[in-house]
Amino acid sequence: MSLKALVFDLDGVLTDTAKYHYLAWKKLADELGFYFDEDINELLKGVSRINSFEIILEKNNATTNFSATEKEVLANKKNEYYKEMIEQLTPNDILPGIVPFITEARNNGVKCAVASISKNASRVLELLEISDMFDYIADAALVKKPKPDPEIFLTCANALGFDPAECIGVEDAQAGIESIHAAGMLSVGINVTVTSIMPDIVLKSTSELDFNKIKNQL
Ligand code: BG6
Ligand code: MG
Repeated sequence: MSLKALVFDLDGVLTDTAKYHYLAWKKLADELGFYFDEDINELLKGVSRINSFEIILEKNNATTNFSATEKEVLANKKNEYYKEMIEQLTPNDILPGIVPFITEARNNGVKCAVASISKNASRVLELLEISDMFDYIADAALVKKPKPDPEIFLTCANALGFDPAECIGVEDAQAGIESIHAAGMLSVGINVTVTSIMPDIVLKSTSELDFNKIKNQL
């Protein structure tokens, strides 16, 4: 089997937006008088916007404080703070090793896709000036089942026209690794901190991404 495509998560893999997610949630939590810290933020990696808010509410014993509509409104408020913050992103925020890795993959005929559940993915890629490096960018608004469901990774494989077994997924969150495995792809885990399921290839940082080594794992 030869490698046909690489499917990348965005937040924590192509760039580190966790600090902006943290700051935006923190601003909302402070306004609401809720506790929120870096440890809770860790639990939100790879988790959808509304489910992230549910986790914050759970940690504050406040799951019944708001109606579903109110929760939507508040999660959207966080998103407005987040959107304002990410406007600071530049190509300098691309994580180390990413551009050479994708360039080498593309030079070897390997297609690249983005499987992010962030509805801000397109804007982030635009600010990083790397949108053109991808043959397909999944639209999070169309994904019905969040990671760990395989839907988003399968959507990318389908869109590129490859069998998932010919693709490798790159992720930084436990839910993402589960999603890649459920899709039937090999996984590369970047600094995955919660590891009840081990990635097939374990890396500490994106700077360790080595195209030849990864290609030969398939
Ligand atoms: C994921 C992040 O990529 O996207 C999560 O790891 C975030 O922290 C999720 O909640 C949804 O992002 P957005 O931009 O649609 O709120
Ligand atoms: Mg991620």
